[in-house]
Amino acid sequence: MIPSLEPKETRPSLSNNTQPLKGWVQGLRGNNHVQFLQLRTNGKILQVVCEKESLGEDLFKQIKSLPQETSITVTGKWQENAKAPGGEELVLESFHIVGASSDYPITPKDHGPDFLHNHRHLWLRSKRQLAIQRVRSELSFAIREFFRNEGYTLIDTPILTGSIGESAGTLFSTEYFDLGQAYLAQTGQLYLETAAFAHSKVYCFGPTFRAEKSKTKRHLTEFWMLEAETAFLGQEGNLDLQERFVKSVLTVTVERTIEDLKTLERNPETLLSYLNKPFPRVEYETAIQILKEAGESIEWGEDINAEREQILTTHFGTAIFIQNFPRAIKAFYMKQNPGDPRTVLSADLIAPDGIGEIIGGSEREESYEKIVERLQEEGLPPEDYAWYLDLRKYGSVPHAGFGMGLERVIAWICGLPHIRECIPFPRMIYRLTP
Ligand code: 4AD
Repeated sequence: MIPSLEPKETRPSLSNNTQPLKGWVQGLRGNNHVQFLQLRTNGKILQVVCEKESLGEDLFKQIKSLPQETSITVTGKWQENAKAPGGEELVLESFHIVGASSDYPITPKDHGPDFLHNHRHLWLRSKRQLAIQRVRSELSFAIREFFRNEGYTLIDTPILTGSIGESAGTLFSTEYFDLGQAYLAQTGQLYLETAAFAHSKVYCFGPTFRAEKSKTKRHLTEFWMLEAETAFLGQEGNLDLQERFVKSVLTVTVERTIEDLKTLERNPETLLSYLNKPFPRVEYETAIQILKEAGESIEWGEDINAEREQILTTHFGTAIFIQNFPRAIKAFYMKQNPGDPRTVLSADLIAPDGIGEIIGGSEREESYEKIVERLQEEGLPPEDYAWYLDLRKYGSVPHAGFGMGLERVIAWICGLPHIRECIPFPRMIYRLTP
């Protein structure tokens, strides 16, 4: 599918609206005769032209001294202006102050990231932040649209859980009445697997939690994950679905956010060029060989870190799947590879531009005995997983699924170096407020 890169308006033009416009003063510039007021309304910035000649000395003076973020209503007449945001501007006739503002802390000067994150509740009003959150909103919608069109049923999995979903190392836990420890969900997967045996094709989309102690550009302690689970699907089909899914939702999101990407100075062609090629499916073993040839000292059995992921995506010039990882470094639920029992039928999708892993997925172990053995190897009590193990007792079938981190994909679309701006209120090891 070749997308159209022409700006596409997803909301009706405001100029058809004869009601007063309601919003906030984002900024003012001009001279002693005319002021251009940037009005933020419905998350968009509109230009309001304020002319001394038509408004009179007093009103013009009031406008000129309106502090940043004063909330106002305005009425006027629309006129075309190719230079104004959106190609039209309002020539002011009257205005009314709704709420005063003074000494707004975020000014047009440069502020450091710490200052901005401390003022995240206000920073969300800034132009770049408006664009990023709109990309997030469109991407989230495209994700739901994709799965609905593919016949998947949405299953809302719990956030408070009694069993560990991924690994014991990154758990948030809390006392849960008389029932001991509860954990914040690291994944909805185990629940989604059970629902896949009811509906065959299911997905969930919600917040997940990892007590990550690392301070990296790609880790949050609370992030949103899209997870899909499909019955009667194997590794190959799972990768086909992921590739189709990623290409589809990225294309649709780019089409719907061209103006926002311009604001973010992200060239959509760069992103779309990756989507025109197949994503190579690289064996873990081959990836290790390529890394060794590139001078890295890495051995079979080791995980592949972010820097090495980038070496690999640069090598292939696009996003790649790395598949069939060593069993010992992957989660207990992954199916042992019948072709090489040292490995599991897993795959990570690695995005280029230094974004790294955006999807982790696998075919699931369907044998009751093998999965109990893996739980024991991991020191996880099989009795805590009795409900999950029931799947392997009552009509077990091959099934596969994956999880995609929303914020990492937003960072990729927007061309952002850090994922912390990709979520309205980031949670990281050193940040819990605002
Ligand atoms: O590879 P992960 O851990 O896979 C799972 O949780 C599986 N249960 C998913 C499944 O098969 N249903 O995480 C999936 C994705 C990663 O590829 C990454 O994009 C994102 O979730 N992710 C994070 N994003 C931000 N901050 C973190 N701390 C993340 N940890 C994982």
